[in-house]
Amino acid sequence: MSESILTNPFTTVLGALGLALAGVLLQQLISFVRLRVATWAWRQLPGPASDSTFWGNIGQYFSRHGENFHRQVAVDYGSVVRLTGLLGNPILYVADPKALHTMLIDEEEIFQETDIALQITQMAFGTTLLSITGRHHAKQRKLLSPVFSVNHMRHMLPLFYDIGRKIRDAISAQVGDAKAEVNVLGWMNRSALEFIGQGGLGYSFDPLVTESKDAYADTLKSLLPNLDVNLRFQFLIPLARQIFPTWLLRVFVNTFSATSNIGRTRDNINEMFERAKEVYASKKRALAAGEAELAKQTAQGKDLVSILMQANSVADEDQRLPEEDVVSLMSMFTFAATETSSNALSRILDVLAKHPDYQARLREELLEARAADGLLSYDELNHLPLLDGVIRETLRLHPPVTMLFRVATRDTVLPLSEPVFTTDGKQIASIAVPKGSQFLLGFMGCNLSRTIWGEDALEWKPDRWVSDLPSAVTKARIPGVYSNVMSFSGGKRSCIGFKFSEMEIKVVLSVLVPNLTFELTDKPIQWNVGTVGFPTVGKESATPQLPLKVARYALPGSGV
Ligand code: HEM
Ligand SMILES: *[C@@H]1O[C@H](CO)[C@@H](O)[C@H](O)[C@H]1NC(C)=O
Ligand SMILES: *[C@@H]1O[C@H](CO)[C@@H](O)[C@H](O)[C@H]1NC(C)=O
Ligand SMILES: *[C@@H]1O[C@H](CO)[C@@H](O)[C@H](O)[C@H]1NC(C)=O
Repeated sequence: MSESILTNPFTTVLGALGLALAGVLLQQLISFVRLRVATWAWRQLPGPASDSTFWGNIGQYFSRHGENFHRQVAVDYGSVVRLTGLLGNPILYVADPKALHTMLIDEEEIFQETDIALQITQMAFGTTLLSITGRHHAKQRKLLSPVFSVNHMRHMLPLFYDIGRKIRDAISAQVGDAKAEVNVLGWMNRSALEFIGQGGLGYSFDPLVTESKDAYADTLKSLLPNLDVNLRFQFLIPLARQIFPTWLLRVFVNTFSATSNIGRTRDNINEMFERAKEVYASKKRALAAGEAELAKQTAQGKDLVSILMQANSVADEDQRLPEEDVVSLMSMFTFAATETSSNALSRILDVLAKHPDYQARLREELLEARAADGLLSYDELNHLPLLDGVIRETLRLHPPVTMLFRVATRDTVLPLSEPVFTTDGKQIASIAVPKGSQFLLGFMGCNLSRTIWGEDALEWKPDRWVSDLPSAVTKARIPGVYSNVMSFSGGKRSCIGFKFSEMEIKVVLSVLVPNLTFELTDKPIQWNVGTVGFPTVGKESATPQLPLKVARYALPGSGV
């Protein structure tokens, strides 16, 4: 009897799975208890009360309506905040500059991305910077860094101006001679896709004239909203991968219908790979055909992927990236570049609509420099003080990326630049970090610190960048790649595309603002929390959009 059960392949598989499940759960339980004991002292650190026995503060932090909670965490408790994670285990929100420096630079190898982040990005894009760590990451990053050099940005500037002018003309045509309501986010997300399409992939997704459809663009655009739906359940992915073999997970994922969220995400990912492979193959043919053929391509072979393919073909054997990794990078670049830039640009236009005085001053600066003609050089574009201040100040107050986690891979100590007070009145100058403990990178808290930025830290004041920064800012040694602002992160895993993004934002503003005016409508704009923050009209709507009243700007005295 028992023999026949054991030899039945179905029950054997079930039995093995049951054992694996029990094993993994036991292992989880042990590490969970060990971590709870090791972080016992953290319960005295200031922070908001837990909101739920199972979810802790995760539900609040991951909620689409979490903006106020994020701000509260960033501002109300000091530079190190204890949040509660799953089943009561703590997550430290770290905004102290010295501690961030330790996590991102001095001890970067200890504070790693979480398994969740690495596995989701591996599943979505394959082997790219986002899904690898340590030496493997360093190797890919080394090959990619020259591709993002300022020198290549200079070559790309005329291409960027072309795209910028197309967007301006399209918006201008849409508003005509009247003042009209325009969904600014819609244009910013089409244009962000086109910037990375042409500048990154040498591929045009969108003629930017009227509404148009591109299958690759559509799949890329729906990936993040699909992934974001189940944000708080993402912790199940590494668990499932530990328990179940990959083939079984694949069978399981394939049982979902194409209309379910998981099914949509699955089809999305497959489609994305197929389209990226086609683009790659056509680029490979053009590169092989030589200069003349390259010149006929979109972006004339000056795009990031063409440069990467050329560098890759002459790299040493052991430095070279496998072809499939280059294909993976195409979708990953597009993903990393679109939501971030389009929401950042939309946020800037929203803020300018709220501050007509600054909008007028910025327009004056741009008109004086004749920026709308699109003939400024890279250096001229980077020497417009108010343009620079407006961008930095908006990214300081509203960092688009606020959900970056890290996990300590061994015991260590986090030094603090300012001591923190525990709830029982003690003062501590450093924090003992046990292996396995979890962290949130507190970019917003660092950006909004009154100690660093002064009493007006919460106000939007681009002028603070135009005059000399207070010495507390320069002294704080904030480890970001973008002078004193953490929005692009810092260290080995900082945003590799930040120069690209800065140039894109500057080009768009410098051609739009001289020719168009932006005003608020009476619709309430709500900024939502997501993997990247996005605006909607009111709290209920889930449709990303930013309506602003837009009109053509005519120079006073020009008779219009
Ligand atoms: C306003 C726009 C942008 C913001 C706020 C932003 C922010 C960030 C942040 C915070 C990270 C660190 C992520 C982490 O630690 O997991 C990052 C990484 C990255 N970003 Fe951006 N980004 C922007 C635009 C871009 C653009 C335009 C590109 C590509 C052209 C890009 C490509 C990347 C890549 C490839 C990484 C991974 C780097 C690595 O792991 O080595 N980003 N970005
Ligand atoms: C912009 O992107 C969002 C998803 O991030 C998408 O839902 C929306 O349809 C896009 N809008 C336009 C006009 O392309
Ligand atoms: C400042 O905070 C904003 C949001 O709070 C963030 O977008 C930006 O990246 C931060 N900048 C710095 C320098 O930390
Ligand atoms: C934009 O503004 C500049 C400066 O006023 C002007 O010379 C140019 O013709 C305008 N372009 C468009 C397309 O309106």
